[in-house]
Amino acid sequence: MEEVLQKEDKEKTPWKSQSTQVANKPQAINSINFEDQPRYITSSKELNRVLGGGIVPGSLVLIGGEPGIGKSTLMLQLALAFGKHKVMYVSGEESGQQIKMRAERLGRKSDNCFILTETSTQNIFKQIEILEPAILIVDSIQTMSSAFIESAAGSISQVRECTAEFIKYAKETGTPVFLVGHITKEGTLAGPKVLEHMVDTVLQFEGDRHLTYRIIRTTKNRFGSTSEIGIYEMTGEGLREVTNPSEILISQREEALSGITIGASLEGTRPLLIEIQSLVSPATYGTPQRSSTGFDGKRLNMLLAVLEKRGGFRLGIQDVFLNIAGGIRVEDPALDLAVCISVISSFEDMPIAADICFAAEVGLGGEIRAVNRIENRISEAEKLGFKKIFISKFNKAGLLKHPGNIKVMEFGKISDVFSELFG
Ligand code: TYD
Ligand code: MG
Repeated sequence: MEEVLQKEDKEKTPWKSQSTQVANKPQAINSINFEDQPRYITSSKELNRVLGGGIVPGSLVLIGGEPGIGKSTLMLQLALAFGKHKVMYVSGEESGQQIKMRAERLGRKSDNCFILTETSTQNIFKQIEILEPAILIVDSIQTMSSAFIESAAGSISQVRECTAEFIKYAKETGTPVFLVGHITKEGTLAGPKVLEHMVDTVLQFEGDRHLTYRIIRTTKNRFGSTSEIGIYEMTGEGLREVTNPSEILISQREEALSGITIGASLEGTRPLLIEIQSLVSPATYGTPQRSSTGFDGKRLNMLLAVLEKRGGFRLGIQDVFLNIAGGIRVEDPALDLAVCISVISSFEDMPIAADICFAAEVGLGGEIRAVNRIENRISEAEKLGFKKIFISKFNKAGLLKHPGNIKVMEFGKISDVFSELFG
């Protein structure tokens, strides 16, 4: 019966609209009224930040991440925190009871959070017309299927069609829609990669499942900057915001250890002090191993070559292991100097004082290059009690007004840094 009904519906668009009948005409750009639509501000500062300052009405946000990382938890927390607005949480993966159990765990209650366990988009839109939610959450897009497409849920064509239907609904009603999407380690599952082009914002939820920290990263945002990150901790009562991430990313040390340095990184608009650990030891079996976790392996090789050529360190016969503490993944070139010093500190077995940090890029000629927003980095380092920060002398221009009681040391060549620290 159900199937027959849906086939009859096939003539209509899934989310029917009045406006599609009227073809658009070109408008002079000066005549277009632009109202800055107020965003929904969520109770989570981290989420607001990665969205570029709250949820934009009518936007489509995709939250991708490996299974078990905490996507459903984050979405349910969001749904439960919107007391004033009706939120519809559609789940194609879990039963109402399972979701209720999670809500109990989170210890939050809301009269305006509605759960719909459904996978057919046509049925979802029927319920939406009745409930008229202010925000829609779909968990997950891979479980949804539209009667307009023959293939199975989770296939590329289904995922694409369902997303297109949700986009149409979002744009026509101004309702923000959150789509949860799974990605496997291999990135094989149909979904997020195809979807990235269709949605407005892509958030990537990542972290080491064995550690409790979770990082939410903006990889695409039509309404704000990308490369913003938000940091959470997974606790027994759901995700907790981490407001001072630098503190958690730097491990507590009892004694000075060689191979450990701190880099003043910048993720989006936010400065982050990151601990880098290396272990350099003579290669025992033929080809030396290079392994890096959380840092680009190619960049590490490049820096090792610079150290070999410009610093005269014979690293070619050494195994090099590099690790960014806290399970975080970083791309900021300003960490180059911290990485180089970490490697040499381990190689020479000479610890670096715990109150020194680094913020500079290293060029192929061994030159210490300037990095952006140096002042933010310096003030974050100062806030956390660092006494010295090593930067490029070419950053000087930006420093004129920096007061503070952190000593800013400027260098032009990596060899000068070596003589300062190890000489
Ligand atoms: P979940 O949100 O279901 O992940 P996803 O939707 O991305 O697959 O949650 C993942 C893990 O988090 C799960 O193993 C249980 C754990 N968890 C907690 O540690 N504390 C909590 O309060 C909740 C709700 C979950
Ligand atoms: Mg889930």
